[in-house]
Amino acid sequence: MSSYDIDTVRSELLEQIEKSDAPREVLRSPVLKDLYGTIATLAPEERGAFGKAVNELKQALETAIEDRLTILESGEVQALDVTAPWDVNGTKPQLLPTDQGTQHPLTKELDTVIDIFTRMGFQAVESRQIDDDFHMFGSLNFPENHPARDGYDTFRTEEGFIPPAHTSTMQHRILKEGKETLERGGQIAAISYGRVFRNEDVDATHEHTFYQVEGVFVSKTATLGDMLGTLRSFFEVYYGQTLRIKTQPAYFPFVEPGLEFMIEKPATLNGKPGEWLEMLGCGMIHPNVLAEAGIDPTVYRGFAWGGGVERLVMLKYGIEDLRHFEAARLQFLRKFA
Ligand code: PHE
Repeated sequence: MSSYDIDTVRSELLEQIEKSDAPREVLRSPVLKDLYGTIATLAPEERGAFGKAVNELKQALETAIEDRLTILESGEVQALDVTAPWDVNGTKPQLLPTDQGTQHPLTKELDTVIDIFTRMGFQAVESRQIDDDFHMFGSLNFPENHPARDGYDTFRTEEGFIPPAHTSTMQHRILKEGKETLERGGQIAAISYGRVFRNEDVDATHEHTFYQVEGVFVSKTATLGDMLGTLRSFFEVYYGQTLRIKTQPAYFPFVEPGLEFMIEKPATLNGKPGEWLEMLGCGMIHPNVLAEAGIDPTVYRGFAWGGGVERLVMLKYGIEDLRHFEAARLQFLRKFA
């Protein structure tokens, strides 16, 4: 065997270690056994150098195994240079094998949320991640320069684009598209889901990037009672139990009346009686918002709601810190695999 073969074996085995969940197993490789076997067959003058090379190889493998074990134990992956993830400062990054990938907990839970609403008859559309002032504010009855605009801590590009601060940016689009269905005697029933962005200081309960789900329903007869029933059903299905609900007044320019929808934290989720949690904002769609989309507010009425997905999921699983969702830590993610 030549030293060239040792190099090939080295890179093959190192690659196996990097991908392995039980890296020590790699030391049992038959290729390694063969290498050892070769030593005895060599002429005495070749033996020394070859034996030394094999020992060095073994050392390198041991070090790689230790590194790999540390990574597996900490549940962390090395930081990747996202522009060139195959090469970090000249060394191979510890990429996880893709066959061990799982859905992110938020994706999974969002699927559940979407599923519950589609079974109730709502259509689901993804919200946009880049939008404009009209959909963020204008179409939603926020007058120019109204202080309610400040409440949304909205990012804005120099060109005037807006990464939406709520999924309500989709309301006008949903209403405009559903206008014809209404005029043919039908109703609008849609949810919109997606990422939203706010200029927040990040802590255990605030993120600059999070998910919301918005609902819009319009018909000739929609009432606030219909809305409360719809929301209650959703929460009861999502948490798998009967819940107590209440509302309190809230101000959003695009609904009138506007409400905060609350549920009593269930005992099964470590709640005490009388412990109320705000889950979302909601209300009857403001006549100006309907009119802006060409829907006659004297004929049709509707309700809308919108709320964060992380909060739902945190309550369901007792997750104490919102930052876990975006941290990409395997220790956290694997709990939901
Ligand atoms: N968009 C509001 C928010 O993010 C929530 C909301 C949606 C309130 C729809 C009323 C109706 O704060």
